[in-house]
Amino acid sequence: MTATMTDTIRVVPQNEPFSARIEGIDRTAPWDAATAEAVQQAFLKHHVLLFPGAIMGPDGVLALARRFGDPMPPVNREKRLENLPEVTRIDSTIRAKVPGQDPQFHIQSSLRAEEWHTDQSFVERPAKATILHAHEVPSSGGATWFCNTAAAYDALSEDMKRRLTGLRAVHGYDTKRARYRPTVRSQEEIDESPDVIHPLVRTHPESGRKALYLNFNRLDRILDIPRAESEAILDELAAFVAQDRFIYRHKWQVGDAVVWDNRCTMHRVSYDSAPGDRRVMLRAVTRGDRPF
Ligand code: OGA
Ligand code: MN
Repeated sequence: MTATMTDTIRVVPQNEPFSARIEGIDRTAPWDAATAEAVQQAFLKHHVLLFPGAIMGPDGVLALARRFGDPMPPVNREKRLENLPEVTRIDSTIRAKVPGQDPQFHIQSSLRAEEWHTDQSFVERPAKATILHAHEVPSSGGATWFCNTAAAYDALSEDMKRRLTGLRAVHGYDTKRARYRPTVRSQEEIDESPDVIHPLVRTHPESGRKALYLNFNRLDRILDIPRAESEAILDELAAFVAQDRFIYRHKWQVGDAVVWDNRCTMHRVSYDSAPGDRRVMLRAVTRGDRPF
């Protein structure tokens, strides 16, 4: 494993299918041009970057987010921090397990994070980067899994690549394909988030690489083909992307800040920690381009 050095920072690829750890960097101070460029190149190459360190407040998370674009507040007003609307506090502590019942914990929108998704795909210009920063982590479980959707696209059969060429899909705030329902929107929030159409295969605006653009919480159907065929393709892709060879599982340490590229990855949380074992994160998201 070779670490790349600039004057101060080290980019250490992790011993996983993908992702890298960034060491020797001040996460919130302004970065000089060489540092910013090294991080940018690492982001494009490794897709998921871990910045270990001490616990930061919401302003620190927002400062780090700004290195990766323009932070955007979540559509759901209730997820916005009072004085810093671009930052969300996520308490995904498992509340209780009731034997024989459906997975039964806490807030519904967190439950949905258990499904493979990319952030904010229900808006026209979905997330570029997401920053998740661990304040409290459970003693076991609660990992976040990342799927490299560019590697998954590359690994598709030529036949499947041809089938997907030019296909577009409807992403909505909710779809009956999703296992759990999202937070109820106010009328204002509904007006702000009509269904949108995105390509099923997108081209990364910076690296030029193709990647599957999927979100199993939002993706309702592929356009211009029968619904049954759309369901079959989406189910086949869901099974395909879930292979270990595309997946990095991040086991959190307190203070970790993980930044991922939503344009070429999906992620999901693993709700397998003990009830009451606290899991609290701060989160910010930056706005991307319209997928093409
Ligand atoms: C998110 C998300 C997963 C997690 O913040 O977008 O999906 O592990 N989080 O908390
Ligand atoms: Mn997410």
